[in-house]
Amino acid sequence: MPTLTINNATIHYAEQGRDKAGTLLLLHGFPLHSGMWEAQLDALSTSWRVIAADFRGFGRSGETGPFTIEQLADDTHTLIGQLKLDKIVLAGLSMGGYVALAYAKKYAQSLRGLIMLDTKAEADSPEGKANRDRMIAIVNEKGSKPIADAMLGKLIPEETARNRPHLARTLRDMMESTRPQTISHALAAMRDRPDQTDMLGDIAVPTLVGVGDQDAITPPEVARAMHEKIPGSHLRIFTGSGHMSPMEQPSQVNAAIAEFLAKL
Ligand code: MLT
Repeated sequence: MPTLTINNATIHYAEQGRDKAGTLLLLHGFPLHSGMWEAQLDALSTSWRVIAADFRGFGRSGETGPFTIEQLADDTHTLIGQLKLDKIVLAGLSMGGYVALAYAKKYAQSLRGLIMLDTKAEADSPEGKANRDRMIAIVNEKGSKPIADAMLGKLIPEETARNRPHLARTLRDMMESTRPQTISHALAAMRDRPDQTDMLGDIAVPTLVGVGDQDAITPPEVARAMHEKIPGSHLRIFTGSGHMSPMEQPSQVNAAIAEFLAKL
């Protein structure tokens, strides 16, 4: 499994495929890791080089101190530089989307396209920030398991968790294996991230916005509002999916991404 030292952190990434048509870089959600993109690595790597990185502290990347969302965007930029990638298509789910927007604001010149899945541009509301603080206190005191307990029902609908126990188990395993310290740092980073709504109108690369029709964290109306602010963007609503559309409905998501990439 490849790793690189980036900005004093050991960063792990998975990759598949050769750069025939271009490179697609996938950024995971919270509190997960690159394993959430397994179906995309398999399906999209027939003509694209597909890379899924673990953010610092997550998955197989090394432990790290506190960080900001902007720092995760800087890490992503350094990774792209170290791998000598040409213009890339950047895809982010939820927290990965927050990083992708921070990246697009700072490093627009190195982007060929943007894919925003189950995510939003708005900062946390005051209630949202207070909830982050509560979760930080819980994870610091009791570890990752209560966070996994609280998150599972938000990531996928209850019915999906019941009918697809393997998917629910995979998500739970990813969350429970994430270091408490990393969860705490990521919660603080998300709490403190700036609102990015104003920059949406400046995005000049082709953009795909996608969302599950039952997403409880970033619902379709949030995705639609983001799509309406990004000039020329495309919107796809995935049926029968909560917040984890790439894992819940991989065929629909892969088809939408493949169609988007084919037009670049
Ligand atoms: C995620 O899926 O990355 C998180 O739910 C995002 C968030 O908590 O804001």
